[in-house]
Amino acid sequence: MRLPEGMTRDDLVALHRAHVWPPYTSADEHATRPPLVIVAAEGAWLEDADGRRLLDGNASWWTSALGHRHPRIVRAIRAQLEHLEHAAMGGATNVAAALLAKGLVEVAPPGLVRVHFSDDGSTAVEVAVKLAHQYWAQNGRPARTRFISLAGAFHGDTLGAVALGGVAAFRALFGPLLFDVMHAPDPGDDAAGWERLVEAVEQELTRDSDRIAAVVVEPLVQGAAGMRVWPAALLRRLRDATTRADTLLICDEVFTGYGRTGRMWASEHAGVTPDLLCTAKGFAAGALPMAATLATDRLWQGFSGGSARALMHGHTFCGHALGAAVALETLAIFRDEDVLGGVQHKQQLIARGFARIAALPGVVRTRSLGMIGAADLGAGGYGGQAGWRVYDEALLRGAYLRPLGDTVYVTPPLNTPDADLERLLDVLHDSIAAAHR
Ligand SMILES: Cc1ncc(COP(=O)(O)O)c(C=O)c1O
Repeated sequence: MRLPEGMTRDDLVALHRAHVWPPYTSADEHATRPPLVIVAAEGAWLEDADGRRLLDGNASWWTSALGHRHPRIVRAIRAQLEHLEHAAMGGATNVAAALLAKGLVEVAPPGLVRVHFSDDGSTAVEVAVKLAHQYWAQNGRPARTRFISLAGAFHGDTLGAVALGGVAAFRALFGPLLFDVMHAPDPGDDAAGWERLVEAVEQELTRDSDRIAAVVVEPLVQGAAGMRVWPAALLRRLRDATTRADTLLICDEVFTGYGRTGRMWASEHAGVTPDLLCTAKGFAAGALPMAATLATDRLWQGFSGGSARALMHGHTFCGHALGAAVALETLAIFRDEDVLGGVQHKQQLIARGFARIAALPGVVRTRSLGMIGAADLGAGGYGGQAGWRVYDEALLRGAYLRPLGDTVYVTPPLNTPDADLERLLDVLHDSIAAAHR
């Protein structure tokens, strides 16, 4: 929606300040830090109320895998609206949801054959947690109520997801409300730290396997922790250790799925099929809230045998027809436009861009994987301020580059044209240099 006739940008900001409770923003910040007023978007670009164009450096919180308003996504929404927007999935299905489930299973790691639909990344994770818990409860292992997750993990903001989370900023306040989770120790910044972390999980799985329901990971990249990249070989080891302990591995691919790491799923880099896989964000190309939790046949079979054994979880908008139509079209676009093929080249541009950024004063370290590049500017973590100075500089240069505290990063749409991608990397480079002066 554009600004209504007669309304100015400042009028709209006043309304926003008076009535909106924005995410991750204190009341003071809300009153003082001017919000961007985004009125339109196309491809890799956002447009604000002043007509200013900004490259969407984080694909709108990592969702817009195909760029904004991809013409085929727009057409798919219109076409679906001609017939059905939503109908409850209680005792019913709809065409888009059933076709989507089939299409998703076809591209999923082999062995994931069942799809439970929900609304967003957090709910996809909640489903995985409850499904794992209920599976053991009704299949002879009721003591399996503990979860293992990793230090630095982020799995969403609903309470189950927060319990798994390991970033203090999102978790510390809610401690008394959370269930028991072992957080494998912080790996720090070196490869040896990740080895130690995996050893600790392996030991715990040996020591306490009777009580462990699942190990939950963000495969290969911990997004909110500051784009921390970890080795595929260690994911393989976690798969092997959970298999030996005959317990479950949950891969939260909400951020890493749909080509973000250069393959359809990050799990693929390790040749791993988890027991449960969560997807959202790129799943519906950022156009509508839509998510899914995929499961193996073993898990599905654990819910047969009468209505008392049904998964006691569902959402009003489960299998939403509009969302499903968009997610189905997203899969078709990935196929028809060879989106993953394009990423193979673009990821090299990102790697080269961050190699250049690594040489800038004030940059502590850089890393890249697939369509993710990140640079640490300090040790302040999520609470750090260095990234915000770069954010301000980037806005002046035409890019929206929201940081994770002291970490600045790019996660652009996967099909960002090369020229726009080069420009985004240049803006980040120049903004870091300017912020450090
Ligand atoms: C790995 C991961 N899991 C879950 C979530 C939560 O997703 P949502 O914000 O859609 O609930 C996020 C969000 O950033 C995420 O990065």
